[in-house]
This record gives sequence, structure tokens and C-alpha cells, in this order.
Amino acid sequence: MMLSSVRIASRRAAAVTGRNLVVLRAASTWANVPQGPPDVCITEAFKADKFPQKINLGVGAYRDDQGKPYVLPSVLKAESAVIAALMNKEYAGITGVPEFTKAAAILAYGADSSALDRLAITQSISGTGALRIGGAFLARFFPGAKTIYIPQPSWANHAAVFKDAGLTVEKYAYYNKDTIGLDFEGMLADINAAPNGSAFLFHACAHNPTGVDPTPDQWRQIEAAVKAKGHFSFFDMAYQGFASGDIHQDAFAVRHFVAQGHNVALAQSFAKNMGLYGERIGAFSLVCADKAEQKRVDSQVKIIVRPLYSNPPIHGARIASLILNTPALYEEWLLEVKEMADRIITMRAALKANLEKLGSKHDWSHITSQIGMFAYTGLTPEQMDQLAKEHSVYATRDGRISVAGITSENVGRLAEAIFKVKG
Ligand SMILES: Cc1ncc(COP(=O)(O)O)c(C=O)c1O
Repeated sequence: MMLSSVRIASRRAAAVTGRNLVVLRAASTWANVPQGPPDVCITEAFKADKFPQKINLGVGAYRDDQGKPYVLPSVLKAESAVIAALMNKEYAGITGVPEFTKAAAILAYGADSSALDRLAITQSISGTGALRIGGAFLARFFPGAKTIYIPQPSWANHAAVFKDAGLTVEKYAYYNKDTIGLDFEGMLADINAAPNGSAFLFHACAHNPTGVDPTPDQWRQIEAAVKAKGHFSFFDMAYQGFASGDIHQDAFAVRHFVAQGHNVALAQSFAKNMGLYGERIGAFSLVCADKAEQKRVDSQVKIIVRPLYSNPPIHGARIASLILNTPALYEEWLLEVKEMADRIITMRAALKANLEKLGSKHDWSHITSQIGMFAYTGLTPEQMDQLAKEHSVYATRDGRISVAGITSENVGRLAEAIFKVKG
């Protein structure tokens, strides 16, 4: 008798004897699955708080000045047009909707980029999926050590994605907690200390969680160090346009590296800059040496994608594609991205101004010199606990606040709370 039949038979016997509950539990296939750690979920504590003026600075998504989720008008128009076109729901190819990936590549690398005609690109399940495909590609084909260096700190999911893809994860210095800024010397030292030909992950703009980005001049020096060591660069660009409000400025690092001859890997997300979070729309691309290499790489990307999810969803790709390929919608979208970025920048300035008005002697200049959705306040975990318990202000214990959760209405109260906790 096969093992599975033995198990079923013993369950039946147990049911007959009336001891089924106990025996079934003991025989459960998943009896030894350990409990994972709880999600770092501030939403629960936020929900439980009954104070009407509570503030949630933990969300990783844009909110308008009323604190509401925001659907971009250009997205609404594109979506209406997609629905009105009554298109069929056939599968996309393995690498997705071609009009979307072509336009995504132009958006990232620039319309005149030398990379475009030697680029292997695939649509992905947003930025996370792009990182995962890239991780799997490196795990299979990267000729150096199967290790990727990520910044310390980095987006919490980076290490998990790359480890699950089969890579070893190492950290390079990035953040200086004394200056609440970039540890530029430490970063260069770690780039120089890594074995020649290592793989490095860089946040293209709006570093998450710190909001600290290298300046263009620092990027130039980073590029020179990376080139001198023969390292490979993998860019994660989850916030193009969302950081400065200018899609070209935010793509500076990627484009500079490509112009200097680096055949980079790139993960793109349209979650933030188009507000298409739940549509899961992104792209993974690899700049290749030439057309022949591009063909070979493309074939292997397909071999990675096919057994993972066969082919990607079409709805978000159609929306993004229509925006990127329709001049009037594209112009409208650029303005909306800038509006979102500007609101964030305005809220940073307002928070700093309010803290100064209250008489804080602390230097808050990092609030406005940092960029993107997140700000590192420099508050300790204990101070963050105090913010939550005494002031109903919720954010992660590492001191990171989502500036998207700040509004014209709550910024004054937020500043008062931070002032009371930090001085
Ligand atoms: C740095 C960074 N990379 C990638 C992502 C991926 O997000 P998504 O999979 O929603 O595109 C995020 C989202 O917060 C991020 O902050």
C-alpha cells in the first residue's frame, strides 16, 4: 500500500473509533510548520486607536492632502479608454505587453539611449517581481560570486527577495546616523573592498527607507569606483518622477552608468509614479553588449518567467502603455507626478518650519534635504513608541516616517508631537 493510502486509512479508522480529533491533529501534514514572526503591522495599532486626530505615517503609498488614496486622473482616463475599447482577454506573451515594455524602457533609459536596441526587457509583477526575476537571472548566470551587495539599510524586502532567488546578500555602508545623511566615504570604501566583479544593488532615486540619495557628483564618483573594480550594477528604480518631480532627473544615475559603458540591470515599478499599486505593473531589463547577446539573454529571461507565473497580467500594462504612448495623456501624467512629488516636498518644508517655529533647537535640515516618500527622522525606537502611545502618531520604530501621510491639516500637530518627544 502507498504511504498516502496508509494515512487516509488511519484517519478513517480514527474517525470510526471516535478519537478522530486527537489522531487527525497528530497526523496533520502541516503539524510541524513553525509560526512565522508577526507582520510589522502598525495598521492594527492605528485602527485600534480611537483618537480622531491620530496620524498614520506608516503607509508606503501616496495620500492626497486630505489623507486619501489618490487615483491619478490620467490613469482614470486611460482605464476608461481601455474598457471602452472592449479588448479581448487573451494571454500576453511571456514577457508581457510589448507596447508597454518598449515605452517603459524609453521612460527609464531615455529616448536617445544607446541601450534601447540591445535591451532584454520583460514586464514584471511590479518592482518586487522585477527584482525577483533579476535575482534569479543573477543566481543562474552571473559569472562572479552569487552575492549581491545591498545598502545598509535598504528596503526591507530586498534581502528576502534576493535570498529567495538564490543569492547571498551582503551589505555596504550607506547611511550615517550621526549626520542623518549619506555615509559617502563608507560607501566608496565598501565598493573598493568588495572582490572585483561583484554585483551591487543601488536605489536609483528616493532611497527607501532613508530618503538619502547621492548627489549627481557623488554618483559620478560611485560610477568611477564601480567601473575601476569591474562591478556589476543592478538599479532598483521604484520612484522615477516621484522623487524630484522630474522623470529625467530621477533617472540620472541609471542613465549616467549606461552612458559610461555599464550594462546595468534595472527593476522598474509603476506602483508609485502612476499610483498603480495593486495592478502590479513593472519591468525588468538587462542592457546587453549587442543584439546577439540580447537574444540569448531574452531567451533565458523567458525560461525564468515561464514556470513562475507563465505570463503577466494585462490590465495595468494596458493602462500604463496608453499613458506612455499617448502624447496628451503622457503630458498630463508628467504634471500629476510632479504634483505628487511637490506635495511631498511641500510637506517636508512645512514639518521643518513648524518644528523651528516651536523653538526646536535640533537641526532638522535633513527633513528637507532627503527626498521621496520617506524621511528618516533620527528618532530612536523608544521615541517612536512614545509618539504612538502619547500622541497617536504611528510609524515604524526605525524612525522612518512616510511623508505621504502628512497633510496641511495634521502637520502642526505632528510637529508638536515630535517636539515634545525630541525637543
Ligand atoms: C525601494 C523599493 N523597491 C521596490 C519596491 C517595490 O514595490 P512594488 O512591488 O509595489 O512595485 C518598493 C516599494 O515600496 C521600494 O520601496
